[in-house]
Amino acid sequence: MRRKLLLGNWKMNKTSAEAKEFALASRDLVNLAHQNNIDIGVAPTYLSLATVKENADPKMIVAAQNVHFMDHGAYTGEISVPMLQEFGIDWVLIGHSERRAYDNETNQKCHDKMAVLLANNMVPVYCVGETLAQFEAGQTKEVVSSQIREGLADFTPEQVKRLVVAYEPVWSIGTGKNASTEIAQDVCGYIRSILRELFGEVAEEIRILYGGSVKPENIKAYLSCPDIDGGLVGGASLKIDSYSGLLTNIL
Ligand code: 13P
Repeated sequence: MRRKLLLGNWKMNKTSAEAKEFALASRDLVNLAHQNNIDIGVAPTYLSLATVKENADPKMIVAAQNVHFMDHGAYTGEISVPMLQEFGIDWVLIGHSERRAYDNETNQKCHDKMAVLLANNMVPVYCVGETLAQFEAGQTKEVVSSQIREGLADFTPEQVKRLVVAYEPVWSIGTGKNASTEIAQDVCGYIRSILRELFGEVAEEIRILYGGSVKPENIKAYLSCPDIDGGLVGGASLKIDSYSGLLTNIL
């Protein structure tokens, strides 16, 4: 039985002071989530990772939004796995569509980053999804298939047990245009079938999230789909009331 997972992606939002306020306000919620066997977390900016870690309930998952695949070196503007580990951060979003679009994050780069994370017993949240043009051209499954196959090439079933996959159709991110639950389930089921082909029965343990204009009002419908185990939520995770609504609507 896969545990439900609710993750907020704060993107480039919140100062450290704002992140601290949210972290303190989230303490009861995190306990409520755990009493109901739900994992809950947020992905703040790098500068707020330590703040959230220090001020939230220790059970709160705190994820970085990216990481470099090298441990150290001449990579201006980057941060590495040992730097995250120093602060007890062991979850990282990989391949978010905004990074794919603006920072040339390829499937190969995602693969290299996830290889380092998995070798360090960390948890990658691997984001996949098609653009509007690809959706309209009927290429969704083709795109998602190569993102999964290239991103996870050569990993072992033992390694990918810890992996989380997030299906986020780019056309639904921040647009208020949700993928219907039928589309979301169809693609998430397809992703699980590829995982099954690549890794065997471990595929049943891998959590698959839906992301894209998820809100308190629609999250329950997504989580009632058989292959959707949780949500990766942007805008609606920023305010504590709305974040709380996301959780209470899936209890
Ligand atoms: P929105 O929930 O704001 O559409 O963002 C989704 C997302 O990109 C989460 O990673």
